[in-house]
This record gives sequence, C-alpha cells and structure tokens, in this order.
Amino acid sequence: MDIQWGSKEALKFVTNAGIITSNGPHGKNAMTAEWTHQVSYSPGLMAVSIMPGKATYENIVATKEFGINIASVKQNIAASVAGGSTGKEVDKIGALEKLGFESYAGKKINVPMLKGAALNVELKLVNEIPLGSHTLFVGEVVEVNADSEEPLAYHGGKFWKLTEQIEKPTPEQMEKISATVQQYKK
Ligand SMILES: Cc1cc2nc3c(=O)[nH]c(=O)nc-3n(C[C@H](O)[C@H](O)[C@H](O)COP(=O)(O)O)c2cc1C
Repeated sequence: MDIQWGSKEALKFVTNAGIITSNGPHGKNAMTAEWTHQVSYSPGLMAVSIMPGKATYENIVATKEFGINIASVKQNIAASVAGGSTGKEVDKIGALEKLGFESYAGKKINVPMLKGAALNVELKLVNEIPLGSHTLFVGEVVEVNADSEEPLAYHGGKFWKLTEQIEKPTPEQMEKISATVQQYKK
C-alpha cells in the first residue's frame, strides 16, 4: 500500500525540519527534508531520504558530502523557502541570505551551513540506498555543533514549537506501572 504525501496517515508523524545543504553541479543549495534522522551513535551516522531528480540529490551523488541543519524555531521561513522551490531554478542560499538567514562555510566539507540552526552537522556520504520513491543517503558525521536554539517541529503539514512537556506519572503511579511490568517479566 502507499502512504501518499499530505494524506491523513502521513499527517500523523512528528518530525523535524532538516535543511539539507549541498554544493555540486547545481551550485550551493538548501532543501528541507522532514525525513532526517540520526541512525547510529558510534560512529555518528545520519540519514536523509531524498527524492531522485531533486537538485540536492544530484549534488550529493556528485560530491559525496552534505550538511544537515536542524532548523530552529526561528527558521520556519527558511524551512519553507528551502522546501518551496528547486535549486535547479532558484539560488535559495542567495534568497535565504537576503531574507536574513546567514550561512557560513563548512569546516570539513565544501558546503554552506546555516547559522542559527538548532544543530549543524557536516557529513561525508557512506551509503546510498534506493528505497521506493526516495533514496536514503547515510552520512558519517565529520563535524557537529549544537546551538542553544530550540529545534522546530513539523507535524500535520505545519511548523510547531514544543512548549508543554507531558507530566510524568506520580511516584505511586510509577510503582504500579513497575509492578505490572515485573509481572510480565519473561
Ligand atoms: C516541510 C517540508 C519537508 C520536506 N521533506 C522532504 C523530504 O524528507 N524528502 C524530500 O525528498 N523532499 C522533501 N521536501 C520537498 C523538498 O524540500 C522540495 O522538493 C525541494 O524543492 C527540493 O529542492 P532541490 O530540488 O533544490 O533539492 C519537503 C518540503 C517541505 C516544505
């Protein structure tokens, strides 16, 4: 079965907005990818699922390196811009600079990175796995910097700021839960 873009099933996920930066045959570029995840602690590996034909896809295939900039709550407009057109037609890095979203040169890769992101990660491509409509690019972390900015959340086709933490169970409730789990010990 399919899970189509924008379907009620697809709208149930809570993800982040990874702004993927690259620099290749289509020049310096940025695109937004909600399918951006850490997939290994040691070595640090991150994966991003990108549709073939995108400028970012072609840049990464050609250069084997890319940046992941986990957008901060102040970068919802940057995430919309990076996801709203293709680097084959628009200089999105230039447009973002003009809109006040500065970039800096990657330290270990020849790719622009976005200032003010919650997390900046520079990666070298280690695996490229075609999976259905998209290709999963797995990169090894070669440089990482976590800013104090809060990450932006993406859910239901909209951007969100996380504000309310769900209360933990009380100590009494915790005791009951632990006792129940113990009863089911194998
Ligand atoms: C919030 C948001 C999330 C997106 N997530 C993805 C994704 O995970 N993978 C993908 O291939 N495209 C995703 N897109 C679409 C790309 O960002 C879009 O096709 C973009 O124009 C590609 O740019 P490029 O051709 O310059 O690489 C997303 C778009 C938005 C707005």
